[in-house]
Amino acid sequence: MMKLLILALTTCVLTCPALAADTCNPQDKAALLRIESEHGNPSDLSNWNASTDCCGGWTGVSCDTDTQTYRVNNIDFLSITLPKPTPIPPSFGDLPSLFYLSLSQIPSLASTIPKRCHPDDQKALLQIKKDLNNPTALSSWQTTTDCCRHWKGVSCDRAKTHRVNFLTLDHIEDPLPIPASIAALPYLNTIQLGPANFTGPIPRSLLSLTNLNYLQVTSTLLSGTIPEFLSQITTLTDLDLSFNHLSGEIPASLSRLSHLESLNLGFNKLSGPIPDIFNSFPNFTFLWLSSNQLSGKIPKSMGNINAVYLNLDHNKLEGDASMLFGSKNNTLTINLSNNKLAFDLGKVEFPNNIQELDLSHNEIYGNIPEQLTTVGDMISFTLDLSYNNLCGKIPTGGALANIGASAYAHNKCLCGSPLPSCTRRRSF
Ligand SMILES: *[C@@H]1O[C@H](CO)[C@@H](O)[C@H](O)[C@H]1NC(C)=O
Ligand SMILES: *[C@@H]1O[C@H](CO)[C@@H](O)[C@H](O)[C@H]1NC(C)=O
Ligand SMILES: *[C@@H]1O[C@H](CO)[C@@H](O)[C@H](O)[C@H]1NC(C)=O
Ligand SMILES: *[C@@H]1O[C@H](CO)[C@@H](O)[C@H](O)[C@H]1NC(C)=O
Ligand SMILES: *[C@@H]1O[C@H](CO)[C@@H](O)[C@H](O)[C@H]1NC(C)=O
Repeated sequence: MMKLLILALTTCVLTCPALAADTCNPQDKAALLRIESEHGNPSDLSNWNASTDCCGGWTGVSCDTDTQTYRVNNIDFLSITLPKPTPIPPSFGDLPSLFYLSLSQIPSLASTIPKRCHPDDQKALLQIKKDLNNPTALSSWQTTTDCCRHWKGVSCDRAKTHRVNFLTLDHIEDPLPIPASIAALPYLNTIQLGPANFTGPIPRSLLSLTNLNYLQVTSTLLSGTIPEFLSQITTLTDLDLSFNHLSGEIPASLSRLSHLESLNLGFNKLSGPIPDIFNSFPNFTFLWLSSNQLSGKIPKSMGNINAVYLNLDHNKLEGDASMLFGSKNNTLTINLSNNKLAFDLGKVEFPNNIQELDLSHNEIYGNIPEQLTTVGDMISFTLDLSYNNLCGKIPTGGALANIGASAYAHNKCLCGSPLPSCTRRRSF
């Protein structure tokens, strides 16, 4: 078996260019050779040889080819016979990208693997746990284990800083404020809070997080208005405050978040008009303002975003929405249902690739343009134009081939398949 492997490797050194180059990180190779020696150079590891590529066939060793960094990220010792039960070699701690480590014969190991968790991060996380009254949801947060590997909801940056960059806090049952001590994790990139019974406002201390891209606080008891200070966290790309009890208006200052790609404020009690801020976000793809009490007209600037998802349903919006249409081909979903929108659908051009179009329960008038048959594809296209003031013959074929009568129900005078034919009526 081993002979075959060595033979395969030797052949490959001559013929396979990918393996001929040494992709192994020199520090990783040095650490592996120390591990080999700390284990007493077992014969099963005889192909761990300084002159070959550790990523190219060393028994049990794998490297990270996904990110092309070729750092050693996996060591599997399960099938290896070691000379004697040995304590875990300290040099495992010198492999910064190591993610999986399977060891069969070495007793009491996990606790002796050197910790990667930065002491300041561990301290901040323990303060969060204390602020939340040591909830059962955080029972895995124990000083005896590594916060980067074993603490639920915590991850660290594996490539560079090794600092905590990802934090999820969910199923916190006690009604408590969001711990301000989150701000003591300066490398946080992603915060996901909820579902949990967090109360009160979003802590202002988050302002000190200068690496924060993704902030999600969802399904909590959070109330009050959307804080203005969020607009100062200019690194944000995703802001999700859905399913809370937020009220008041959407602050126009959010326009300062120029990197924003996704805004989800759905299922709150927000009211007033939608601010005219959408010229500020060149990379915007996702807007979800569903199920609030937003009123007034849709701002003109919303017409300039080529968003993939546009959900404004269940509000009190009125007037024109035709600026949201056009042959933009990023848009897959437009849901404007359950508003008071009124505009001429006959003058609208639909996005080329649209898959879901729900305009039901509005006051939209005019006829259905023939161009709607050319969008998307008829297998996945879903349509609801019911409960409007539309009139005229329904175009047939293409994307509309599989749409049933309910999509057109309760309009002023739509006719033709799948509704009763137009000729039976008098007034066309
Ligand atoms: C390591 O590999 C080189 C070249 O393939 C070989 O000459 C050498 O004998 C090997 N060393 C050991 C310790 O196996
Ligand atoms: C919030 O509190 C209620 C009442 O104590 C409880 O039933 C519920 O499970 C809690 N929610 C979460 C997400 O922990
Ligand atoms: C938009 O996305 C591109 C490509 O990912 C990126 O280079 C650019 O910096 C982004 N612009 C903003 C304002 O975030
Ligand atoms: C998107 O639209 C542009 C211009 O309107 C067009 O050139 C391009 O082919 C379209 N792409 C797709 C995937 O439809
Ligand atoms: C649009 O939103 C309504 C209400 O939230 C929902 O019932 C409907 O399924 C949505 N339509 C589409 C096409 O997703």
